[in-house]
Amino acid sequence: MQHAGHASARLRFPFIIISFDAKNRSMNELDLALARLRTGQLVAIPTETVYGLAADASNPEAVARIFALKGRPADHPVIVHIASSCQLGDWAQDIPDAAWQLAEAFWPGPLTLILKRQPHVLDAVTGGQNTVGLRAPAHPLTHELLQRFGGGLAAPSANRFGHVSPTTAQHVRDEFGQEAPLVLDGGPCQVGVESTIVSLIDTTPKLLRPGGVLREQIEDLLGMKLEHHQHAQTANVRVSGLLDSHYSPRTSLIIGPSAAVREAALTAAEKGQRVALITQSDAISDGIFTRIVLMPNEPDAYAYRLYDTLRQLDAFNLDVLYLEKPPTDAGWLAVNDRLRRAAHQQLN
Ligand code: TXA
Ligand code: MG
Repeated sequence: MQHAGHASARLRFPFIIISFDAKNRSMNELDLALARLRTGQLVAIPTETVYGLAADASNPEAVARIFALKGRPADHPVIVHIASSCQLGDWAQDIPDAAWQLAEAFWPGPLTLILKRQPHVLDAVTGGQNTVGLRAPAHPLTHELLQRFGGGLAAPSANRFGHVSPTTAQHVRDEFGQEAPLVLDGGPCQVGVESTIVSLIDTTPKLLRPGGVLREQIEDLLGMKLEHHQHAQTANVRVSGLLDSHYSPRTSLIIGPSAAVREAALTAAEKGQRVALITQSDAISDGIFTRIVLMPNEPDAYAYRLYDTLRQLDAFNLDVLYLEKPPTDAGWLAVNDRLRRAAHQQLN
């Protein structure tokens, strides 16, 4: 009887037991993460966009560890993550009204603001420039971590330089293997592509990277158009996301209009290549492709799945990935930007 009673009690309260454990576990992990960050070590943190590789932004040895692990060139600046706009003045100076308006409207959220830096901000963080990138991420676990940490966390995406950004804790572990730091597991990232970056350094705000917050949302709020440089050659700031080969899977990725991609993919498969076709149209019956991935027809859902899809396909050791480009409407700007940078080749 004793045993049966115990079993039924466990059955009656499974949710309480599970949520108690989950809360306990993440509390312990938060404490551990804080301890590591305070002693200059790295911690991978969940955000609503992608996972970040975080270090105390005011500790030069800690920031150097980010660059060493990522294999990132030293002159590429990293974003400083803060809990809220109350900390903007700790890192930036001469903050224009537009920055306060944008922070009020979109923070915590997937928007990074480039502002004039405070003199104390480390050169390693700013890439030696007189500006600093700041963002308050929306993930509850990381928000709590930032509140308790009190300072800023320098954090690029938690991937090796040039590779696809991680959108799950497992992606981070896969990326760094034995070298992986403590990973705070906050589940899959809800946005799935990196934050929108807006520079407020000049009189006209510039869109440096499209992302989770739409260009139109920002233009509506500010009542003015953003300048947007699509290519690295025309941008005069060092933004590593603007390099032409970035966010790339290991397997060769070829993108283009549906008809051209379909034809090239068929030709490659007929020659015996192991081909994946990434499409939004379910009108495929052919068994010739090694993998067919049906992507969503809605941009947010597409962004959510994009990096995970590329990472999963990389694991199949295929010869080539062919991707039919999605629409070019405004809502697809961030997805199309990442696809263009991820692609090894574009068909016309
Ligand atoms: O969503 C995101 O922004 C993610 C999460 C982790 O917050 N972070 C991210 O970091 O994508 P990262 O380092 O992979 O990309 C940040 C981009 C880089 O292209 C960097 O050059 C640019 O922001 N950036 C940072 N500080 C800058 C500055 N002061 N001026 C111009 N660009 C800057
Ligand atoms: Mg990155």
